[in-house]
Amino acid sequence: MKTEILKKLKMAGTYVSGQALCEELGVSRTAVWKAVRQLQEEGCTIEAVRNRGYLYRESGDIYSAAGIKSQLHTRIMGQNLVFCQETDSTNNLARRQAEEGAPDGTLAVALTQTAGKGRRGKGWTSPAGDGVWMSLLLRPAFPPEAASMLTLVAAMAVQEGISRMTGLDCKIKWPNDVVVDGKKICGILTEMSTEADYIRYVVVGIGINVGIRQFPEELKDKATSVYLCLGRTVSRARLVAEVMEAWEKYYDIFKETLDLRNLREEYNQELVNTGKTVQIMAQEQSYTGTALGIDSRGQLLVETGDGSVRQVMSGEVSVRGVYGYV
Ligand code: BTN
Repeated sequence: MKTEILKKLKMAGTYVSGQALCEELGVSRTAVWKAVRQLQEEGCTIEAVRNRGYLYRESGDIYSAAGIKSQLHTRIMGQNLVFCQETDSTNNLARRQAEEGAPDGTLAVALTQTAGKGRRGKGWTSPAGDGVWMSLLLRPAFPPEAASMLTLVAAMAVQEGISRMTGLDCKIKWPNDVVVDGKKICGILTEMSTEADYIRYVVVGIGINVGIRQFPEELKDKATSVYLCLGRTVSRARLVAEVMEAWEKYYDIFKETLDLRNLREEYNQELVNTGKTVQIMAQEQSYTGTALGIDSRGQLLVETGDGSVRQVMSGEVSVRGVYGYV
């Protein structure tokens, strides 16, 4: 009901009487009043004036479950939303939700993470109020082999979401970092629970640096945020909605073929590595070559000095630009 009230107030743009809300939603005045109180507690600016009703005032970023849901136009993704102030890691939160039977498309969002996880066992700093830290729970009906490509699909969704929200020239660094001006603005960590040959669930964790104004010395050359690129922040609620909408679109396309044949061209257009010299750092060897783009399984095609083209699998290697991070 909170979401409905927020939507109605936003659309009205003027005072809406308590009575009108009661009648439209079929609930009591007290129920409306309680929902408005909760919205106010979550940070929404709603004025309540005797004899006139409720007025919603735009006040930037209302980052709450209701704030996100009032922006969200998806069928499934994020419709079941778990929002909390603080958690260890939204990936862990989504996993706990999964174990308790949460449905496909459940989205776990937190204001801050106390033990945010990055790839390769690294941590992920997640200051309160300065980012979008969220994890999407999926219950796909396809075999585990296909799941490794989801992380590339997620990168496409984030790239599109950030671009639409900010107008920044946002690119993908293979396989799934999203970068602006050659620096990482988003990281994605996909985790999976499997049983023999089927997937129990997948958790796609997405961390977008939004309001971070300063990075520690060791990250300065590699990491950036919306604020540092744009000189201002954007609504995190709207950003979450944009990413979810893009994700749903790309995920539907992916599920038609269970590979990237219909997404490959678009992915390659946004790929920052294309035509660049990259260093492939695999466990057993390291080599350089020119990145050509991905194939329909999401492998990076790299042309080496002898003219042969190698297919690089994600997960096995780390890719660096020869002259910097990309
Ligand atoms: C990377 O190392 O690039 C991946 C970083 C992924 C960070 C996000 S933040 C939301 C979700 N919860 C986590 O603990 N990690 C992911």
